Amino acid sequence: MDKLLITGGSILKGQVDIAGAKNSVLPLMAATLLTDEVVELSNIPHLQDVTYAIQLLSGFGVDVCLTERMTVKFQANDLTSVEASYAIVKSMRASILALGPLLAKQGEAKVALPGGCTIGARPVNIHLDGLRAMGADITVEDGFIHAKADRLKGTTFEMHPVTVTGTENLMMAAVLAEGEMVLKNAACEPEVVDLAEFLNAMGAQVSGAGTSEIRIQGVEKLHGVEYAVVADRIEAGTYMVAAAITGGCVRVNHVNVEHLQLITEKLIQAGAEVTVGSDWIEVDMQGRSPVPVNIETAPYPDFPTDMQAQFLALNAVANGDSTVIETVFENRFMHVPELLKMKADIQLDGRCATVKGVQNLVGATVSATDLRASACMVLAALVAKGDTLIEQVHHIDRGYERIEEKLGSLGATIKRLHA
Ligand code: UD1
Repeated sequence: MDKLLITGGSILKGQVDIAGAKNSVLPLMAATLLTDEVVELSNIPHLQDVTYAIQLLSGFGVDVCLTERMTVKFQANDLTSVEASYAIVKSMRASILALGPLLAKQGEAKVALPGGCTIGARPVNIHLDGLRAMGADITVEDGFIHAKADRLKGTTFEMHPVTVTGTENLMMAAVLAEGEMVLKNAACEPEVVDLAEFLNAMGAQVSGAGTSEIRIQGVEKLHGVEYAVVADRIEAGTYMVAAAITGGCVRVNHVNVEHLQLITEKLIQAGAEVTVGSDWIEVDMQGRSPVPVNIETAPYPDFPTDMQAQFLALNAVANGDSTVIETVFENRFMHVPELLKMKADIQLDGRCATVKGVQNLVGATVSATDLRASACMVLAALVAKGDTLIEQVHHIDRGYERIEEKLGSLGATIKRLHA
């Protein structure tokens, strides 16, 4: 497997174009199953998870055609299968997003049960309970979720805890259902809003996305559409932290600045000068070391769990102490033992990390244990003394397109070592 070799000490400077959001393109691709007509998605990020999603859809018989750079056409008018194997679900948990659309459109879906993963147990009980409440007959046997329904019926369903893909799955199931679906305690993430706007552009009737109550009036059928994927706020946030951790100045382009409000505030607290444009943000640290910032993750609009690991790296080299509390996933501190190898000073107590900033991290051989943990290792390596070798970088490639190219263009000394 590929590795990344990073020599720390470069101060990052320049501009970087942010790609379409991983967490948006995956539900959007699943939603292409909801119509027989052609759907054209642009601003598709070049990610391993997108390749997996193409494999998933092709496995159902969806016609997938790459038209030009970052644009893909999908047509699901002649499906040959409604089954997603464990091999594909294991590669990408978001395969569970096929369940709602397949059931709504084809009346049946068989999706391998995603197991737990390094960051937590990650059950899908809410997805299944919601579909059952809509009248689906669901069995879980031999490692597969097998769902059947004639036509789903809208109902009122409350989700606990707030779940992003759960909200998305039920929203996609409800757009072709009979009557009105009311989703309570819905996720408010920008990617949920992007999916709602996409579904509405296909002829669905979804309102309230971005609030905790989403209403979906079912329609008979959806039509084709051309749609651009929203910008990836987590990729953008990661490059903003890269500027802050190296004392540099980086402008992230093609972003939705509203989606980055809290990240921006935290970076200002950390000592950065931030300039916000219409679709860009510049983070200028002017050579300073970061001031520590306390973090507590929670569903949007609070601090995203997908940025926790990156801010932990920032705090690891800050002037002072901080706490980082993870409330969304039960085991999302796999990056801490790796940071300790680089001489960070962090105490873990359940879901709380107490960080004492050190003057220098030291290069080491570390492992990228999950997607965002891998971003943490890259950020730590950028400021560590000497060389850091990051193993298992396939996790990074799931969510960050051409990371070595983008960081290299900002002045980082980074090289991919091919296996
Ligand atoms: C999505 C994102 C992921 C992000 C996470 C939280 C995608 C493809 N992935 O993951 O990047 O880190 O939101 O913002 O969009 N839960 C249950 N039962 C369920 C579903 C979830 O108990 O049926 C729990 C989970 O274990 C977790 C919490 O709810 O503790 C939130 O998880 P959820 O929002 O569902 O995460 P994902 O949608 O998998």
